[in-house]
Amino acid sequence: MAEVKAKPATGKLGILTPGLGAVATTFIAGCVAVKKGLGQPIGSFTQMGTIRLGKRTEIRKPNINQVVPLAQMDDLVFGGWDLFEDNVYEAATNAAVLDQRLLDQIKDELSAIKPMKAVFDKTYVKRLEGPNVKSAGTKMELAEQLMEDIKKFKADNNCERVVMVWCGSTEIYIEESDVHQTVASLEEGLRNNHPDIAPSMIYAYAAVKMGIPYANGAPNLSCDVPAMVELAAQTGTPIAGKDFKTGQTLMKTVLAPGLKARYLGIDGWFSTNILGNRDGAVLDDPDNFKTKEVSKLGVLEQILEPDLHPELYGDMYHKVRINYYPPRGDNKEGWDNIDIKGWLGYPMQIKVDFLCRDSILAAPLVLDLALLLDLAKRAEMKGIQEWLSFYLKSPQAAKGLYPQHDLFKQFEKLKNTVRHIGGEDIINHLGLDYYE
Ligand SMILES: NC(=O)c1ccc[n+]([C@@H]2O[C@H](COP(=O)([O-])OP(=O)(O)OC[C@H]3O[C@@H](n4cnc5c(N)ncnc54)[C@H](O)[C@@H]3O)[C@@H](O)[C@H]2O)c1
Repeated sequence: MAEVKAKPATGKLGILTPGLGAVATTFIAGCVAVKKGLGQPIGSFTQMGTIRLGKRTEIRKPNINQVVPLAQMDDLVFGGWDLFEDNVYEAATNAAVLDQRLLDQIKDELSAIKPMKAVFDKTYVKRLEGPNVKSAGTKMELAEQLMEDIKKFKADNNCERVVMVWCGSTEIYIEESDVHQTVASLEEGLRNNHPDIAPSMIYAYAAVKMGIPYANGAPNLSCDVPAMVELAAQTGTPIAGKDFKTGQTLMKTVLAPGLKARYLGIDGWFSTNILGNRDGAVLDDPDNFKTKEVSKLGVLEQILEPDLHPELYGDMYHKVRINYYPPRGDNKEGWDNIDIKGWLGYPMQIKVDFLCRDSILAAPLVLDLALLLDLAKRAEMKGIQEWLSFYLKSPQAAKGLYPQHDLFKQFEKLKNTVRHIGGEDIINHLGLDYYE
């Protein structure tokens, strides 16, 4: 019998999201719909995935939750914070991602989830203003209020464990600075209202300080600074960031490894998007877009390794644009034009036109990140959970280690980590023994 390295998932798991916008409400409504048999959790590895165990001749391919103990859908409870007062039914209706007939069937469950008052500062998201905000205090006092919120939520909902996934807006671009280096400097900065500590970092601090696993679905620094890694080590907390890997970047990290594997060259990769949801409105501000741009631009460089292959990728021109276009709502359109070259340098082009639905792609990632971080906590894994890079556009990695962006390598790592926690042999795909 395999010896599972994680404690069982008993009792209820609370999933808290700072931000109850399009992604969070699509996630919550989706889980409620799945519980009631009104839909399928498509896109979720934890709900639909199987995993091969042992030798290929054994044909053992159980579901993930038969290999490791995951919290069950029926044991999930949802809550969150937002600067708007709409309950989840109202917010999901406004987001207009899901069909109103579906939302009406789960109206009672969704209306019962009301946002707690947000830690919000317009300096970091200029395009938003809302009434449901905690009154000013030092940043440390605000963090303490968040910790009280979490304790109350946990008690009110009889939760055994809680995880937090940031689903709030993308904040303005902030670079790592001195205040982010140690727990001591961060706590000092919280007490002195240091401007480099954005609201998302205050939520992350509150969670990690309490030992609550934290994932960051946006490209803000949040838990991706040395101080937060140090705090996570101190409190035994798993963390993962940043920025959900959903539409265009998902495609990019699928295509680029394929082109690279065949040593086809790339002269240029132009990516543009039109979208009209609130996220699009926030990203229309250049300071907020900059945070997203940095997150989106990083992926090709690591996958293609232009330093090793200057003749193939040395002069590649990579550009990413996001255009706010209200008629599209959440139904984003992402175009990619890729100028590639083959044998003797002959040019070719690839065009991708992805008519996607942003929140439909993001919702299963929130679920998987929450369940897998909860698993990590029960397996006593702390600090950066690099095996969750699969879900993230700009994955956090240990100091001195470059992040892995190739979706297939990320998926192998994810599956091997599940095997490892499940007490099973990891698989390296060598397979020579089949031919001995
Ligand atoms: N949908 C995707 O495919 C995708 C992919 C990657 C990243 N993201 C990121 O996920 C986040 C959520 O996306 P969305 O489409 O749901 O956006 P949204 O604008 O619909 O929702 C974000 C919500 O967060 C709230 N908010 C902002 N600051 C807050 C704070 N300090 N505290 C509490 N609430 C706060 C806003 O009021 C809003 O309701 C964004 O940062 C987005 O960039 C989304």
